[in-house]
Amino acid sequence: MAKRRVLIFENSFALSNYLLEKWAALAAAAVQQQGRFTVALSGGKTPIEFYCRLSNFDRFDLWTKTHLFLTDERFVSIHSPESNFRLIKNNLLDYLQIPDENIHPVLLGPVDSIDEAAAQYEGHLETFFSLPIGQRPRFDLVLLGVGEDGHTASLFPEDVNLNETSRSVTVGIPPTKKPPRISLTLPVINNAACVIFLVTGRNKASVIADIFIKGADLPAGRVLPQNGEIIFLLDRDAAQQLPLPEELNLSGDALAWEPPPVNH
Ligand code: 6PG
Repeated sequence: MAKRRVLIFENSFALSNYLLEKWAALAAAAVQQQGRFTVALSGGKTPIEFYCRLSNFDRFDLWTKTHLFLTDERFVSIHSPESNFRLIKNNLLDYLQIPDENIHPVLLGPVDSIDEAAAQYEGHLETFFSLPIGQRPRFDLVLLGVGEDGHTASLFPEDVNLNETSRSVTVGIPPTKKPPRISLTLPVINNAACVIFLVTGRNKASVIADIFIKGADLPAGRVLPQNGEIIFLLDRDAAQQLPLPEELNLSGDALAWEPPPVNH
């Protein structure tokens, strides 16, 4: 099982610099080894800066072999301000020279229910990854955020779907009265070759401490790829409740912080 790495950056710009280099390296390696690079992208505000900067990544040779999926999607129109696809389209896809067939949104139009949308996305994954029955897709990269309650993708604390192990796609019910969501399940996320969390801002400091110091059993804390790497990219604000050196000089590279072992 992977060991969680934590890298702390002065700010989100430095964090994005690192992630751009990591993306380029993962994409080049995946394309060379298997002829394609498969990524599941998260919604939310945190990754917007990275998506904007990634839109300038001009390796057309890699984009033609990169396939972009969603970690989760709200059951709303793709024109809705709440749509993750709309967010990723507006900040990334509209500026890329990437073939249309390489973009894999959750199709919500021709379905009558969110369960049908989830089943349809699962079927699309099974076809794309040529999965034998019961197998989970293995993404080369899954980008995730963390909610202040510890949710990730659309897997929420106390939600029964958090424990879904026989499906690749499930329905996530937010605790607030927001639209229900379609989400990759934990088995899919934990089957990835690389999982990277982007967590910035002081409003995430408490949940980061809950995950790493208190060992709280939260959805984001349950992400531990069996056969892959997992990296938490934090800015200084999100890391402020971690036991770090007083004088934290982050002007150079990131600070690698050694988290306690996972105890749940
Ligand atoms: C979503 C994301 C969700 C997000 C967290 C953090 O659909 O919104 O999948 O899991 O990553 O809620 O969101 P922020 O980046 O906006 O804080």
